[in-house]
Amino acid sequence: MGLETSCDETSVAIVEDGSTILCNVIASQIDLHAKTGGVVPEVASREHVEQINAVIKEALDEADCGFSDLQAIAVANRPGLMGALMVGVSAAKALSYALNLPLIGVHHIEAHIYANFLIDPTVQFPLVCLVASGGHTQIFLMRGHGDYELLGRTLDDAAGEAFDKSARLLNLGYPGGITIDRLAQSGNRDAIKFPRARLGPESLDFSFSGLKTSVLNATSSGLDSHPIEDWCASLQEAIVEVLVQKTMRAAANYNVRTVLAAGGVAANSRLQSEMRRACESRGLHFAVPSKILCTDNAAMIACAGYHHILAGHEDGLDLDVIATEALA
Ligand code: KG4
Ligand code: ZN
Repeated sequence: MGLETSCDETSVAIVEDGSTILCNVIASQIDLHAKTGGVVPEVASREHVEQINAVIKEALDEADCGFSDLQAIAVANRPGLMGALMVGVSAAKALSYALNLPLIGVHHIEAHIYANFLIDPTVQFPLVCLVASGGHTQIFLMRGHGDYELLGRTLDDAAGEAFDKSARLLNLGYPGGITIDRLAQSGNRDAIKFPRARLGPESLDFSFSGLKTSVLNATSSGLDSHPIEDWCASLQEAIVEVLVQKTMRAAANYNVRTVLAAGGVAANSRLQSEMRRACESRGLHFAVPSKILCTDNAAMIACAGYHHILAGHEDGLDLDVIATEALA
């Protein structure tokens, strides 16, 4: 069983053998946080407390399992909102103690990457993985399971933040990534010129704060100059283009044959199609989880936990929550 409560989804999943998803229940708090235009940590924690027991029960029912069928408990314990993480970790500890099962604390970003192994456990190493979510934008080199080398990262905003903050300026509500994705499908990608921070010919790092300022400036005199679809398509292209370009540069520099994408922004249609096209033209294998497995969910936590068990890792009941911790 995997539990995920690091931000604004209360999720519990049961996964067999690291790849067969028996259930992946996700109780989203989006409606609650849309009212405030973003996640209020205290509100998120309280909502997790309200939801967690019911979500555990729903997961068992959906998977047609009893507690006695479970073999291990994996939980996201880092990084994330402290109060939110604590709800999942407390529930996981209670289950582990009462059922006498191994407890495994999982790094949330590692779990995003492992969503790919849920779909295809035979993914070949070495590989390069782009992780782009609401709080993170990084490129990792993996030479094997649990082996991460950080190749590039954002110097300021995450890609998801660039989507969400721009969406707010475009009056599209919270969270905006998915709305921008939808509207961009019928927009003109070349309508508005937004900056791309390339940071030098060899850089694998990202910067999205200039884009945010540029959207702020462009929207300051109103949105009437272009259809909303064109705003979305142009903005999305500025984000997607650098994500794809740097990931391809990393794949070439490290001579890998496999490229993965993960995290909420990896659900973006344009990012997926551009990554696929770029990989195909270079003869590289590209994989990305289904959209529901790109955004926060507990199946990815269970999968990462499964691989930790295979590697002989286990945590004690003193497992702590950690607000910030780099994966590598
Ligand atoms: O991984 P995730 O669910 O949560 C974090 O760990 O942050 O990522 C959420 C982020 C948000 O910024 C959201 O706007 C973005 O992923 N996102 C998208 C799409 N779906 C979710 N961004 C662009 N296009 C999408 N289709
Ligand atoms: Zn996430």
